[in-house]
Amino acid sequence: MTPVELAENVYWVGAVDWNIRDFHGYETRRGPTYNAYLIIDDKKVLVDTVKYQFKTALAEKIRELTSPEDLDYVVVNHVEMDHSSSLGHVMQCAKNATVVSSRRGKDGVAKYYGENDWDFQIVKTGDELRLGKKTLQFVEAPMLHWPDSMFTYLEEDRILMPNDAFGQHLASSQRFDDEVDQGVLMDEAAKYYANILMPYAALITRKIEEVSRLGIKPRIIAPSHGVIWRTNPEAIVNSYVEWSKGKTEKKAVIVYDTMWHSTEKMAYAISDGITRNGIELRLFQMRRSDFAEVLKEILDSKAVIVGSPTLNSTMFLTIGAFLDYATGLRPKGRIWATFGSYGWGGGAVRAMNKRLTESRLEVVEPSLQVQYAPDLKELQKCREFGETIAEKINLGGT
Ligand code: FEO
Repeated sequence: MTPVELAENVYWVGAVDWNIRDFHGYETRRGPTYNAYLIIDDKKVLVDTVKYQFKTALAEKIRELTSPEDLDYVVVNHVEMDHSSSLGHVMQCAKNATVVSSRRGKDGVAKYYGENDWDFQIVKTGDELRLGKKTLQFVEAPMLHWPDSMFTYLEEDRILMPNDAFGQHLASSQRFDDEVDQGVLMDEAAKYYANILMPYAALITRKIEEVSRLGIKPRIIAPSHGVIWRTNPEAIVNSYVEWSKGKTEKKAVIVYDTMWHSTEKMAYAISDGITRNGIELRLFQMRRSDFAEVLKEILDSKAVIVGSPTLNSTMFLTIGAFLDYATGLRPKGRIWATFGSYGWGGGAVRAMNKRLTESRLEVVEPSLQVQYAPDLKELQKCREFGETIAEKINLGGT
């Protein structure tokens, strides 16, 4: 792909990674992009780099517009390697460039890439960098989603480059929000929020308010992943506000796994009890599903019901992994419930409830358990269990 113009003398020079399907455990069904931006003024600035494998593609795009050797600044909004691992390659060419980052960004660069003799300019919220006709303003954004993270704002063109915030893992030949399927776009944006930013919901609300107080009203939001929001950037900001409030719908997610179909029969009977009360439902067998997709569905669900057979006196390994992953993302304000089957001593339900209560998530009691396989009476109890959860969803409480 060639560079793409966002505004006069402002270009996307990133890379599209069509084939990657595992992004540190996040299943990227549509593949990611690594967005970098080039601003040409009296001073020439590269905002972020790309994953190392794409360093040559980045340099070639820059060279179509200017010589990489002439870069004056390289802004490191975030030191995670998908954005910084080409920094060394860029700096080998741009020998006179200054690296601009937060204090923690500088520390991170040194830890990942070793001490070096690059010039650094440490910036903090409100600092500006005059480029000629254009001006960059910086906003620190610690824990959105790493301690070093920051946003860069191009004042005259009103382009906000917030790195991971507002991103999507969406590989495409198109670069702008209005050029792609809107359902796919919002689906991937929601998935990205649920799997990367949900633990920092409280910080997101405050950061959006702070950005507004600083007088930053972006016309374009250019994140480091996916397409650029140029048509209606308020829409994704408003979605982030709603998601960070933990707003949910009348919807439930059942996540289960099964050994000999007993827990599976329970899952389907519970789903009958839920859906007959008008509640939207998604059902996932964890061994056949990916974490990122399940968490996206949990994002707007009021209830999460988790089922597991007992294996070696505890929960099935895929359910243990799911609960580790899901509780780490802290989806608060949901109704949690558990169920499962066992042969003799049991243990799965106990282990699931322990994991959930340790994470301060409220679990509907009592949980539902059957020995060996559910008979007709027990399947009816499963339906009633689902109906109880549906009532709680309809009441909107836990
Ligand atoms: Fe896209 Fe936190 O890196």
